[in-house]
Amino acid sequence: MISRNDPCWCGSGQKWKKCHYPTIPSNEPLAKRYLDAYGILLKTPEQIEKIRTACRITSDLLGKLCSAAKAGVTTLELDELSRTLHKKYNAIPATLGYGSPPYPKTICTSLNEVICHGIPDNRPLQEGDILNIDASCIVDGYFGDTSRMVAIGSISEEKQRVIDTSLTCLLKAIEVCSPGRYISEIGQAIEDYAKTQHCSVVNQFVGHGIGIAFHEAPEIPHHYNRVNIPFAPGMIFTIEPMINAGVREGIIDPKDGWTVRTKDGKPSAQWEHTILITESGHEILTLL
Ligand code: MF3
Ligand code: CO
Ligand code: CO
Repeated sequence: MISRNDPCWCGSGQKWKKCHYPTIPSNEPLAKRYLDAYGILLKTPEQIEKIRTACRITSDLLGKLCSAAKAGVTTLELDELSRTLHKKYNAIPATLGYGSPPYPKTICTSLNEVICHGIPDNRPLQEGDILNIDASCIVDGYFGDTSRMVAIGSISEEKQRVIDTSLTCLLKAIEVCSPGRYISEIGQAIEDYAKTQHCSVVNQFVGHGIGIAFHEAPEIPHHYNRVNIPFAPGMIFTIEPMINAGVREGIIDPKDGWTVRTKDGKPSAQWEHTILITESGHEILTLL
């Protein structure tokens, strides 16, 4: 997560706090309380509008990538299409060069037993594969992040089960998002449901605040947890449950430093949306 003294995301070379760090209006005690207590930036209406635009573009772009994911197509070709679409929408791919080692591509493509952060390569998609495509855009300095699953042809019952379970987990988690309820209720909703489907919930990776930066506070665990922070209007974060058919443990590929595979090689699935907390509930920002 970017902190106040890190270099600004815009590349100015200045510290974030001296550059694009958002100012908190003095007449907004809630915003100040959330920043002081939790490091959470509640967004202003102007910021929300910009983030909404970034999220819609990300969702549109992801839809086009998913439509292109067919047997015979490589994930590298999907990355090339993603580069073209980012240019067309005046968007910067948030993943390119992100982290350490620098992430090398404009999308993550996580196949079958890959939990997340799969790197596009030249393996053609095959009948029976399941693929997560995760797209994240910076538009006019603001961030959107969303991912979906695609089935290539007919797939096994086990793969269908992880796809369906991870989507239902996401939708059940979104239902609890309203002012006064707690971040911990997300993990509760997800793990309660995943258990009924005999699936496990990954706890090594979490959802995250987003908007001004790619990964902001707070962390949003998908597993049982005690994060007793109440949702407040203006909070923007992702929910992105990773659901496994077998054990929950993942192993990071030591060769590329990114690809995370299930320890037992069984399939994994993930869906992701960016969510805004409103006065009366929530808005899913990464819908068209
Ligand atoms: N989009 C991912 C997320 O949902 C982050 C990917 S970081 C990368 O948070 F470097 F692997 F691309
Ligand atoms: Co995310
Ligand atoms: Co993502």
